[in-house]
Amino acid sequence: MAEARIIDGKGFAASLRARIAVAVEDLRTRHALVPGLAVVLVGEDPASQIYVRNKGEQTREVGMHSVTHRLPVDTSQEGLLRLVNQLNQDPSIHGILVQLPLPGHIDTQAVLSAIDPAKDVDGFHVVNTGRLSVGLPALVPCTPLGCMMLLKDTLSDLRGMNAVVIGRSNIVGKPMAQLLLAADCTVTIAHSRTRDLPAVARQADILIAAVGRPEMVRGDWIKEGATVIDVGINRVPARDPAAAAAGKTRIVGDVAYAEAAAVAGAITPVPGGVGPMTIACLLSNTVTAACRAAGVAVPAGVGL
Ligand code: GUN
Repeated sequence: MAEARIIDGKGFAASLRARIAVAVEDLRTRHALVPGLAVVLVGEDPASQIYVRNKGEQTREVGMHSVTHRLPVDTSQEGLLRLVNQLNQDPSIHGILVQLPLPGHIDTQAVLSAIDPAKDVDGFHVVNTGRLSVGLPALVPCTPLGCMMLLKDTLSDLRGMNAVVIGRSNIVGKPMAQLLLAADCTVTIAHSRTRDLPAVARQADILIAAVGRPEMVRGDWIKEGATVIDVGINRVPARDPAAAAAGKTRIVGDVAYAEAAAVAGAITPVPGGVGPMTIACLLSNTVTAACRAAGVAVPAGVGL
């Protein structure tokens, strides 16, 4: 069996951003519409600061309006809700993203529920999760949306395939399962309590790993020729013991890549697979939200 085809998420994300940039320019000139994204960060979590900076940069790079609100860690829930309400009312803002995790004194669900569902570019509001589950147009969470774009680009026809999603989070696992179901896959959601997880995984024509445990999915969990999508981003000690002792780290996925690539038909690498798709899909959702708000057709090649 030949080595798996590598699914180039980094390259796909770059081409998606290029299509978005063309669409944004077209919306500006033909409809006087400039999609706007507001990102809200509470506190100084280092990883969140990097994500938020990257979101702002990529938003501007495709020609969209970008606003970042950085609030102190002791911001009250009322203060945050006031800002969300102000952004809900702001006609220049079509997408609102409140970076998670929020500090412990803030009720995350209350904040997510306060975002206007039409501006909920994270797709976390119960209105959007409900719309997705009944097959109505919805804003879809960015990571599963990115996975689905890669799957549709890799496989000519998903219908009837066995899809196994490992992980049941609201951000990835559950919406991923809904998207696969909508694409006529036979879907299993597996999780930490699933009995004989390797045997369940081996049934998968499409295997999505979204558990957050480094290299948990082994080569012998994978059916020959399967398409493997690795959502994990886990920081582990560097391979070289001296470098590891010096505190050096590397990033691995939830899948043991070399083992899996020897069996799979296609696989996403980590890094360079799903990760780069997430922000590109956030931009895609912002264009979608802006077009729906303005009653303009969503440009081809921007959404799923
Ligand atoms: N933190 C980590 N991932 C995400 C995400 O997809 N959306 C938001 N808002 N915060 C996050």
